[in-house]
Amino acid sequence: MAKKALVTGITGQDGAYLAQLLLEKGYEVHGLARRSSTSDVNLTRLEWLGIEREVRITDGDLLDLSGLVRTMQDVKPDEVYNLGAQSFVKSSWQQPILTGQVTGLGVTNVLEAVRLEKSDARFYQASSSEMYGLIQEPMQSETTPFYPRSPYAVAKLYGHWLTINYRESFGLHASSGILFNHESPLRGIEFVTRKVTDAVARIKLGMAKELRLGNIDAKRDWGHSKDYVRAMWMMLQQDVADDYVIATGRTTTVRDMCKIAFNHAGLNIDDHLIIDPVLFRPAEVDVLLGNPQKAKEKFGWEPKITLEEMIVEMVEADLKRLSK
Ligand code: NAP
Ligand code: GDD
Repeated sequence: MAKKALVTGITGQDGAYLAQLLLEKGYEVHGLARRSSTSDVNLTRLEWLGIEREVRITDGDLLDLSGLVRTMQDVKPDEVYNLGAQSFVKSSWQQPILTGQVTGLGVTNVLEAVRLEKSDARFYQASSSEMYGLIQEPMQSETTPFYPRSPYAVAKLYGHWLTINYRESFGLHASSGILFNHESPLRGIEFVTRKVTDAVARIKLGMAKELRLGNIDAKRDWGHSKDYVRAMWMMLQQDVADDYVIATGRTTTVRDMCKIAFNHAGLNIDDHLIIDPVLFRPAEVDVLLGNPQKAKEKFGWEPKITLEEMIVEMVEADLKRLSK
């Protein structure tokens, strides 16, 4: 019998790559997706990977406990990956309550549905390095104290601790992956890497002249989504549930990440980049740098794709997309 997985957030970047990985491993993959009038475009990422017909989509919303309970009754998954969230940090100041409901309380809804209907299912929570915020140690690990700096990070911290609490209170096999930034050609256009690679492709093709950014001194530990979804799956294959940092151990400024993209396209960054104060955030996470040692020691996870390889892949994908 094939194992069954239920993935919330299947229409997002990680949902698509995780679904692909699970299908390759022989899983029956079910995905929760919000019903919308644009359902045809909603599956674009799954289509990009050519797997939209292999995934079984169920209508559902993280805010709707009864729907989640029904889905859990119908699917009876062996593994549940909770990737759904309002995931854009900047929007979380504009929509703090919605972010709290979806990104925070939504975790309670999924955990409750698991506890009530399939308590032996293994559960993965998509926690975030954003929870470290105003960093308390130069390199962040599972033992570094948190200091969230956005409504999004506060909501993620709630979900993180609730996952630990359900593991300790009810014995659920619930793990939390503290993932540092990870990107790919399927990254949403509002996130900085994809905003940059899309702009570079447009400038190269003569469709645009400038790129407007906010704080380019911010530093991030960037990896590739494909490497990171593999870590999610590996976590759930462990006998004992636990929490793990997933990162590359290298941090780079937004400015230097941009240079990789501009250089690849043979463009000079100084001819096109404009700093726009409107794009600065009310509170910034200046630097993130993760220590993935625990994941390496416990289950041998290591990233395979470098930042340079990833940015080049993204620029090429955007050139292809825009040339069509
Ligand atoms: P993403 O591309 O923004 O995908 C978010 C997903 O959540 C989408 O499928 C979205 O559906 C869904 N969603 C939003 N609101 C929902 C709701 N009310 N009910 C059900 N689904 C809802 O994010 P991602 O980059 O794949 O990240 C996956 C998860 O990892 C997120 O929880 C994110 O916060 C977390 N994370 C990401 C990173 C990173 O660097 N990528 C790092 C750490 C943690 P629609 O398509 O309908 O909007
Ligand atoms: N998006 C964006 N747009 N970011 C910009 C811009 C811009 O025009 N200019 C500068 N930045 C800076 C931001 O201020 C931030 O310091 C950095 O680029 C990265 O921003 P994002 O790509 O939006 O990612 P994030 O770090 O805020 O959040 C992502 O990573 C988290 C993990 O640390 C998201 O994927 C979160 O969902 C995730 O939890």
